[in-house]
Amino acid sequence: MIISASSDYRPAAQRILPPFLFHYIDGGSYTETTLRHNVDDLSQIALRQRVLKNMSDLNLETKLFNETLSMPVALAPVGLCGMYARRGEVQAARAAARKGIPFTLSTVSVCPIEEVAPAIDRPMWFQLYVLRDRGFMRNALERAKAAGCSTLVFTVDMPTPGARYRDAHSGMSGPNAAMRRYWQSVTHPQWAWDVGINGRPHDLGNISAYRGSPTGLQDYIGWLANNFDPSISWKDLEWIREFWDGPMVIKGILDADDARDAVRFGADGIVVSNHGGRQLDGVPSTARALPAIADAVKGDIAILADSGIRNGLDVVRMIALGADTVLLGRAYLYALATHGERGVEALLTLIEKEMRVAMTLTGARTIADITSDLLVRELGR
Ligand code: FNR
Repeated sequence: MIISASSDYRPAAQRILPPFLFHYIDGGSYTETTLRHNVDDLSQIALRQRVLKNMSDLNLETKLFNETLSMPVALAPVGLCGMYARRGEVQAARAAARKGIPFTLSTVSVCPIEEVAPAIDRPMWFQLYVLRDRGFMRNALERAKAAGCSTLVFTVDMPTPGARYRDAHSGMSGPNAAMRRYWQSVTHPQWAWDVGINGRPHDLGNISAYRGSPTGLQDYIGWLANNFDPSISWKDLEWIREFWDGPMVIKGILDADDARDAVRFGADGIVVSNHGGRQLDGVPSTARALPAIADAVKGDIAILADSGIRNGLDVVRMIALGADTVLLGRAYLYALATHGERGVEALLTLIEKEMRVAMTLTGARTIADITSDLLVRELGR
């Protein structure tokens, strides 16, 4: 299949991935209402068309935490990328670096920090979950610092995992013979994916560095699910500050009061996010939540946003709603699963092209020109 639009990657990924992995990526929680609203609400944002403004010279560059980004886009932290493509985190990070944007390594990556960070020539971002085991957290932060990671993305919307029924049906979160066979194949010593760094056997990267190789994906997910910590509060973030002196971004803010608390705490940024509709179903889409948050804190803190962005036009829409930079989740995973590093790079090229078209036709010459002034109307839902 010839991929010519960013939306082509999803059906291609569905054809190539084992069903339990496709649905793990594609699915959300409960009835997936928030997941659908993320995409639908964003697609309904209408922009003002402006003409005859000599738009021959566009500049998509943006600055964030002393880094220059070729466009206001970064790759979101996503677990288990190394299951979607061989050494998946390395492939995605290379594509992002080549396109001049940050890659965020998830706490639950397959490839370890020490493998991904040296594979690229720009500083990586690192995402941390709050886990009951504070020793694990501290160790992960120290490793991220030692590997030169520039920005910490601290995800706070997972004090308990959301109920994802597609995973229950597919076997991702229960016994499943197909999944066991797949797991055995990717962890088998003879198989290409099994060759980790320096010929060490395939491991589970960040997690296994602490607890040793688990016997299977279900063990891994079970261990993780039992380690999320519902007791988390702003006090825990003070503790993190002792181990991290770089920029710190709080991911999973969906309410203006929490955004104000993040400013009071002294965070450098927030990610307005509902975790791609994977946590509490029924919370508002990011497109709906973002304007009130931007009204409350724009200019006081960097506003990043994700959930539902599928193309370059969506990036422009999210920025018009109040974001400074956006994160891509599923959009890049579908490309990674189908075409690896080249796919992620091609997707980012498409996103840039789509942004250029949207900017040209709305009269926005720079990212700073993309403001709420471009919006035709707020969402009605
Ligand atoms: C995620 N997300 C996520 N977030 C995080 O902070 N740490 C993680 O390990 C993961 N893992 C993860 C796995 C998969 C398969 C998905 C789809 C998502 C959430 C992610 O960072 C981001 O918030 C959403 O993906 C954004 O929504 P869209 O763009 O996928 O709709």
